[in-house]
Amino acid sequence: MKAQKVSLGTMDWETFQKLDSRQKAGSFNINGRPYHVLVAQQFGRKFLEELGDLATFIRKIAKTKAGMDFLQKQLSHKAAMLYFSQPSTRTFLSFHSACQILGMHTVEVRDTSTSSEVKGETQEDSVRTFSSFADAIIMRSAIGGLAEKMAWVLSNTDRPVPIINAGSGKDQHPTQALLDIYTLRRSFEKRGGIDRKKIVFVGDLARGRTVRSLAYLLTNYDGVKQYFIAPPQLQIGKDIQDILVQAGVDFELGSDLGRHVAEADAVYMTRIQDEWDEKKGESQKIDNAKYYFTADHLRRLPAHSVIMHPLPRRLEIDIAVDRDPRAVYWRQVRNGMWIRVALLAFIFGCENSILKNSPKAGS
Ligand code: CP
Repeated sequence: MKAQKVSLGTMDWETFQKLDSRQKAGSFNINGRPYHVLVAQQFGRKFLEELGDLATFIRKIAKTKAGMDFLQKQLSHKAAMLYFSQPSTRTFLSFHSACQILGMHTVEVRDTSTSSEVKGETQEDSVRTFSSFADAIIMRSAIGGLAEKMAWVLSNTDRPVPIINAGSGKDQHPTQALLDIYTLRRSFEKRGGIDRKKIVFVGDLARGRTVRSLAYLLTNYDGVKQYFIAPPQLQIGKDIQDILVQAGVDFELGSDLGRHVAEADAVYMTRIQDEWDEKKGESQKIDNAKYYFTADHLRRLPAHSVIMHPLPRRLEIDIAVDRDPRAVYWRQVRNGMWIRVALLAFIFGCENSILKNSPKAGS
């Protein structure tokens, strides 16, 4: 059944919050392109393909000075606010770099102890203030759903600038999932793409927002099997399992990576996120060693497979694994920058200008 179209700015927050996730997600796009980027459910396969194609096209153009000069003119009239109230290395730097590649100006708040939030200003008022200085707000927060709430807040003002969710609480990290899909697509370019692949997620799947977003995005592909390997108390949420059931996705829960490594096309490792522990130190009681990627796993992993990780890592992948060509987690970081350049180009509608007017792409 087709979800009824709703508009973010036409209803109160309580009513909006209660909508089905598909209905909500539809209101974040305008004419098939993202306006806000808030949840993975707002992206379909066609857009994922177009986004990946654009990212690949842009990274080729950017190899030449003429190409880079051309890209830097695309959004030189726009500014982005980077509002990161939770630590980040990759997402912050890749968005910052993506803005620079397109010539966007950036302003930032990374430490709310230097903002008027310490004087009691609400996040709603802070974000409304940011919208006075920027044409998009890229935000990371420890509060689940905050980016969605802020998009709703701005939709009821006279400057409803796009909000991009750069990681919200334990719920979603949609732009990480976009770069993960791009990495999978590039990895399986000569093996029929992502369809019918077996993806094994390992680690803290209850609190890992990257896995939650990627599990949604993978429902866009045919016959993908998802395995969730985690300690029982950190297993993937029932909400995601329900969505996979509704989407007819074949998935399995387990706690033994060794059982699946020999048939995996991709192993997606994650760290135990003890910063979310309700009781300090409770994660330390978990037998983490079962969720490490070992030399034995590497030996048994098929030659065509890939090992992924959103990073940062702790001990779950030995540094020695980095030398193996199947380890693509450093490529994920680089892919993240290009996919975010492409995403900003789509949000601001300069993708056709890039595709049609660019100087000859580098090889
Ligand atoms: N993958 C990721 O979100 O990394 P950061 O927390 O360093 O941004």
